[in-house]
Amino acid sequence: MEKILVTGGAGFIGSAFVRNMLNWYKDVYIVNLDKLTYAGNLDNLKGIDEERHTFIHGDICDYEVVAKALEGCDYVVNFAAETHVDRSLMRGAVDFLRTNIEGVYQLLSIGKEKKNIKKIVLISTDEVYGSRDEGSAVETDPVNPRNPYSVSKCAGELMGLAFYYSFHLPVVITRGCNTYGPYQYPEKVLPLFITNALENKPLPLYKGGEHNIRDWLYVDDHCKAIDLIMREGEPGHIYNISAGFEKQNIEVTKKVLELTGKDESLIQWVPDRPGHDKRYSMNSDKIRKLGWNPLVSWEEGIERTVKWYKENEWWWKKIKEGEFREYYRKQYIDRTEKT
Ligand code: NAD
Ligand code: TYD
Repeated sequence: MEKILVTGGAGFIGSAFVRNMLNWYKDVYIVNLDKLTYAGNLDNLKGIDEERHTFIHGDICDYEVVAKALEGCDYVVNFAAETHVDRSLMRGAVDFLRTNIEGVYQLLSIGKEKKNIKKIVLISTDEVYGSRDEGSAVETDPVNPRNPYSVSKCAGELMGLAFYYSFHLPVVITRGCNTYGPYQYPEKVLPLFITNALENKPLPLYKGGEHNIRDWLYVDDHCKAIDLIMREGEPGHIYNISAGFEKQNIEVTKKVLELTGKDESLIQWVPDRPGHDKRYSMNSDKIRKLGWNPLVSWEEGIERTVKWYKENEWWWKKIKEGEFREYYRKQYIDRTEKT
């Protein structure tokens, strides 16, 4: 059995990775360590093979917990993070610094003590390159993160590279583009807009940012790329993971309206995100040379995703009734009233 420590495996991409790995390989065992913050949700793991999965409720900043979880593991894949740019801007970024930097440092330090780890994969983001008007970033380009979230992710990456250079720890870094699919917490634009449309509620589009561009990657394709890099990625290297499906926010919004059968009167213009990065774009030749390609087109992925949210109200309705309400009021209603 291959034993993999997945941190943040109750979140969106982490839970998809756990589910997919257990389906793709019969000889994989997953230890899943997750703090269950507002974004972590055991519902995301419903139906997985419990025989080959152990869940540990814990924090990656906690030495004892991580040291125990790491026992006998061949690989570590770190998804655990505070992930929402708007929260890092509007609600303070202390948790971001703690988990995304200190937590990564803790994982690396304990990883350094264990001798049998084949690879530590740090899941990072295209946001570390910052906004670019034209062209696509390659892995050797300078970083230029411009919001507290992306700065914290960038610092985590640099710490990973420091452990590679200083202690030969087999660290690899992945930089994924905007990812979407089932079980994504509905603060991110796609699940927020899809579920709001299904409830006949307004879609809060950032005014002035409607032509901003993101590159959209279906979650299972992202997981396939991470698996490949975990096995074949070279220590000390960075790998961009991008689909090449670049869309303006207004196009994404109209697609959601079309697929949910709603009209544009549901669009609500709200104040823009401060320092809103205009466009993210990465070149992914390096991982494509390893044999990866996205298998799910934007059209197919968004259709599948809308269908999933239509059929799984049980999953998102209770989330939107909890702490999410307070977040939504502060993020959208209060800010809109102030302007
Ligand atoms: P998410 O917010 O859905 O999940 C994060 C998970 O981490 C949650 O389950 C949460 O409980 C857990 N967590 C947070 N702090 C923790 C801590 N201190 N200890 C243990 N667990 C903790 O995030 P996601 O969208 O699935 O993103 C996963 C990773 O992928 C992140 O590192 C993120 O930066 C990166 N990423 C995300 C995207 C995207 O579009 N979603 C794109 C590129 C990269
Ligand atoms: P988001 O899903 O937060 O991802 P990221 O900021 O990591 O790219 O946002 C994607 C895009 O959608 C981004 O350009 C901001 C925009 N957006 C809105 O217009 N309205 C919203 O309510 C949200 C959450 C995002």
